[in-house]
This record gives sequence, structure tokens and C-alpha cells, in this order.
Amino acid sequence: MFRFEIEDMRLCEWRMGHVMRFALLLMLLALVYPSTDAQDFEHCKNSIKQWASTSLQSDTKDGHILKDLLFFLHVPRTGGRTYFHCFLKKLYSGDLECPRSYDKLRFDPQRPDCRLMATHDDYSLMSKLPGEQTSVVTILRDPVERVFSTYEFSIEVAARFLVHPNLTSVIKMSNRIRSKNGGISTLEIWPWKYLVPWMREDLFSRRDARRRKGSPYFYGNDSYDMEGVAMPLHDYIHHPIALDIVHNGATFQVAGLTNNSNLRGAHELRQCVITHPILGKYVLEVAKKRLDDMLYVGITEDHRESATMFANVVGAQVISQLMASTVTSNNTTEQGPPFSDSSIDATDDPDNSSSTDEAKGENMTVGKLMETYETCISSLRLSQSRRRTASLKKISPANFTKEARRRVPDNAIKEIISLNNLDMELYKYAKQIFQKKHQNMEQNLHGSLKDEKDHMMLTNITPAWTAVYFFSFIFLVLFVCFFKSAKRRISKIKI
Ligand SMILES: *[C@@H]1O[C@H](CO)[C@@H](O)[C@H](O)[C@H]1NC(C)=O
Ligand SMILES: *[C@@H]1O[C@H](CO)[C@@H](O)[C@H](O)[C@H]1NC(C)=O
Ligand SMILES: *[C@@H]1O[C@H](CO)[C@@H](O)[C@H](O)[C@H]1NC(C)=O
Ligand SMILES: *[C@@H]1O[C@H](CO)[C@@H](O)[C@H](O)[C@H]1NC(C)=O
Ligand SMILES: *[C@@H]1O[C@H](CO)[C@@H](O)[C@H](O)[C@H]1NC(C)=O
Ligand SMILES: *[C@@H]1O[C@H](CO)[C@@H](O)[C@H](O)[C@H]1NC(C)=O
Ligand SMILES: *[C@@H]1O[C@H](CO)[C@@H](O)[C@H](O)[C@H]1NC(C)=O
Ligand SMILES: *[C@@H]1O[C@H](CO)[C@@H](O)[C@H](O)[C@H]1NC(C)=O
Repeated sequence: MFRFEIEDMRLCEWRMGHVMRFALLLMLLALVYPSTDAQDFEHCKNSIKQWASTSLQSDTKDGHILKDLLFFLHVPRTGGRTYFHCFLKKLYSGDLECPRSYDKLRFDPQRPDCRLMATHDDYSLMSKLPGEQTSVVTILRDPVERVFSTYEFSIEVAARFLVHPNLTSVIKMSNRIRSKNGGISTLEIWPWKYLVPWMREDLFSRRDARRRKGSPYFYGNDSYDMEGVAMPLHDYIHHPIALDIVHNGATFQVAGLTNNSNLRGAHELRQCVITHPILGKYVLEVAKKRLDDMLYVGITEDHRESATMFANVVGAQVISQLMASTVTSNNTTEQGPPFSDSSIDATDDPDNSSSTDEAKGENMTVGKLMETYETCISSLRLSQSRRRTASLKKISPANFTKEARRRVPDNAIKEIISLNNLDMELYKYAKQIFQKKHQNMEQNLHGSLKDEKDHMMLTNITPAWTAVYFFSFIFLVLFVCFFKSAKRRISKIKI
């Protein structure tokens, strides 16, 4: 008995010890590891769900009809510049463009002075626009191509500064230019205002290192991995700045959660999605809904079809809207500095194309618009490629050619795809929308052609038939009258 008791007590103690230790461990674990994480996750999840549900509520009706204000949500590196210069600039005169700086926007929702808002700002700008009177258009691009292009363009623009002896001199010069331009400079436009200075600093430090080392310098033969000249692609895509600004950039822009958002909690929400990728589905859902409600969604890769659809869907409506408005309104009010897209994708070249006052809205047609577009785009491409070649010379032997890109290892491509999983989904979705709308447009175009023919036949025939109907009617009336009076006469005769 006694022995048993002792043994029981020992057992008890042993058990207690275990239980205590286990409990302590649990508490520690709960305190240190999972609790913060779980709490953070729960907090993130709640915030995102709340944001998503309010974002999904706002539904724009009649998405397919052009409203008073056209908001071109220009996702960087999707080829939007050609749409701006070769379509929108040909349609809207300068005074119809909204002032560039969004925080200076003062809209009178009753009578907005401007009709066109083209910007890299994200969807949250809608909170400053007359939402019900705004139509949104955008263009999406294959995410891998977009990341490559962003990388190349950041370096390309940064390389233009290598003419300077050092960074101090660059910054001095930029400040001088800035004060001359009255506060507007390329490097103040998102996202280049972060990406270009980042690459610029990097290029200068690599150049300095190269000089310290002295020649001959071994560069290697892979332009995307040339440490001596520029930040290798691999380092770029894994950098926190790229995580914040470049990856899933289209989804965040359409959702309104970019680094440049007007929404107060955007930064926190974006960080939530970056740390808890599973929450990305809520952002994606909102972005998809927004695409659904847009007037137009183009696809960079389907360039011809996209341009044709833009002319027929957006262009046609802008033309008829402007034709209607030139009759009623003749008021041009206070102008901010006109928004020049050339300063977005390129730098500091004065906007030339708009100065030639070609046919704007009034007597433009869709056919003429397409013609204008074709000539415009070829000259734009030529000047772009010249500029690019000149910039890339400054970082030679690195050269971002198609051949060099094809040699980038599959691993890097796979990494880009996985870092842009939301954009991959959104792009797939955009393509579906595009295909559906494209089919509709083709049907409508053919349909309206047929309608036109039918209509013409009707109008050709109608005058003749009207005459026939008219005379038949007169004849009928006369006949009835005659018949009645005859009857009356007969009855009189009878009486
Ligand atoms: C940068 O370049 C300028 C102009 O050549 C020169 O005066 C200045 O001393 C340089 N600064 C540094 C830190 O090297
Ligand atoms: C680049 O260099 C590697 C060896 O360093 C070589 O195997 C490869 O063929 C070269 N590629 C080209 C396109 O020159
Ligand atoms: C935007 O991104 C840049 C670069 O990562 C960062 O310095 C800046 O603080 C960010 N701004 C916001 C509002 O998140
Ligand atoms: C423009 O508006 C003013 C009134 O503000 C009017 O007197 C003038 O006739 C208008 N001009 C045209 C061309 O409609
Ligand atoms: C023209 O715009 C000014 C300033 O917004 C306004 O005061 C004026 O009434 C407008 N005139 C017409 C004819 O719309
Ligand atoms: C602007 O246009 C004029 C004439 O159309 C042309 O001579 C000039 O080279 C252009 N400037 C730029 C920077 O494209
Ligand atoms: C547009 O119409 C105006 C007259 O309303 C005319 O002077 C001008 O030449 C026309 N432009 C084009 C390109 O047809
Ligand atoms: C880069 O490659 C392109 C196309 O192959 C070529 O035209 C250009 O001259 C090259 N640039 C440099 C700086 O080597």
C-alpha cells in the first residue's frame, strides 16, 4: 500500500512536471511564435475582407457607354503611351485634358472641365473623380514581359544620367531643371520616381567600382547578369522595392492598392498580401470585378485587335460625344499644366505631337482615327527605338536585345511568374474579357453594316410606299363617304 502511494506520488509528480513543462512550452509558443503571426494574419484577413467588400459594392452601371470623363488607367510598360499619343491626343484637344497633378484636381461633378484623365495613378483615384460620370479604360500585358520591360526601362532611363561625372552633379542638375520646369519632372511620376533613382544610384556605384578596379574588366556575355555594369535581373526581382512596386503591379493598380494609392491603408493592405499570399485572392477578386466594369480592356500582345477595338469602342463614342458637346459648351477655364505622357515613359522631351493641331473630335471619324493612328505609331516607335539605342550605348556591352532575353534561364522566368501570380491570373481573365468583347464587336460591326443596308433599302422604298398608302387611304375615305351618302340617299328614296 505504502509503496504504491509513494510510487503514485512520484508518478504524479512526474506527470505534473510533464504537464507543467508542456503547458509552459505551449504558452511560450503561443506568446512568441504563432500568436503574433496568427493575430497578424487574422488582422490582415479582416482588413482585406472589409476593403474587398466595400470595393465590390460600388458598381458602375452601363460600363459599355462612355461617360463624361475618360480615365485611362495606364499600367506602366503596357504600351499605353501609343494609345495616349496616337488615339487620345488625336481626339481630345489639350484643354480637355485634366490637370496632371491629381492632388490639385478640383472637380465640379456637375460640369467637369476636363474629359480625359490619363495617368499611372491607380484605381483609387476614382475617389477624387466623379465616379458615376467616369469611364475607365486600361491595357494589360503578359506579366513576364511587363517585368522585363520595367527592369530594362528603369536601367535605360537611369543610364541617360551616366553622362555626368558623379551623382552629386546629377542631383544638382535635376534640381536646376526641376525649378525651371515649375515643379514637373519625369522623376516625380510614379513608379519611375522610385525605380529610376534606385537604378541610377546603382549604375553610378557600379561604374565607380569598375574604375577603382581598373581595366581590363571582365563583363561576361549575359546582359541580364552583368554585375559590373548594372543590377542583374535576378537581384532586381528579389529586391524589396521590386516586391513593393513591380510585382503584381497590374493587379494592385487595378485594385487601387499600389505604392501610390490615394487610399489611406493601402500600404498596410499591400504588405498583408505580400506576407500572406493566400489573401491575394481578395485583391484579385476586386481587380477582376473592376475589369468587368470597364469600358475597354486592351491586351498588349493582341496589338492589332486591341487598337481596332479601341477605335471602334472608345474612339467612336468620344467622337460622337465631342460632336455633341462642341455645340453646347464653349467654356475653357483655368488650366493646370497639361499632362504630358511623353514625360512618363520617356523623359524630358517636350511633347511635340499635340502641337500639330490635327483634326480633333469634331470632324474625326473612326476610319480617319485608325489612319492617323497608323502613321503616328510608326513614327513614335522609331523615335522610341532611337532613344533606347542611344541610352543602351551608355551601358555597353550590356544590351537588352531579344536574343539576350531568350538566353535568360528558365528558373528566372519561373521566379517572375511565381512573384506575379496575381497578375498572371488577372491577365488570363483580361484576355477572356477581351475575346468576348472582340467577338461582340465583330458581330456588331457586321450587324450594323447589315442594318445600314436594310435601313438604306427602307429609306429608298419608303417615299414610294408612303404615296401608295396615302392615296389608298384617301381613296378609302372617299369610297366610304360615297358609299354612306349613297346609302342615305337610297334610304331617303325609300322613305
Ligand atoms: C562631382 O563632379 C563635379 C563636376 O565635375 C566635381 O566638381 C565634384 O567635385 C565631383 N564630386 C565628387 C564627390 O566627386
Ligand atoms: C557565353 O559564355 C558562355 C561561357 O562563359 C558560353 O558557354 C556561351 O556560349 C556564351 N554565349 C554566347 C551567346 O556567347
Ligand atoms: C513607395 O515605395 C518606395 C520604394 O519602395 C518607398 O520608399 C516609399 O516609402 C513607398 N511609399 C509608400 C506610400 O508606400
Ligand atoms: C460662348 O459663350 C458666351 C457666353 O459665355 C457667348 O456669348 C458666346 O456667343 C459663345 N460662343 C459660341 C461660339 O458659342
Ligand atoms: C465658364 O466657366 C466659368 C468658371 O468656371 C463660369 O463662372 C462661367 O459661368 C462659365 N460660363 C459658361 C457660359 O458656362
Ligand atoms: C517637333 O516637331 C518639329 C516639326 O514638326 C520637328 O522639327 C522637331 O524635330 C520635333 N521635335 C522633337 C523633339 O521631336
Ligand atoms: C474640320 O472641320 C473644319 C470646319 O469645321 C475644317 O476647317 C477642317 O479643315 C476640318 N478638318 C479636317 C481634317 O477635315
Ligand atoms: C544592341 O543590339 C541592337 C540589336 O542587335 C543593335 O542594333 C545595337 O547597336 C546594340 N547596341 C549596342 C550598344 O551594342
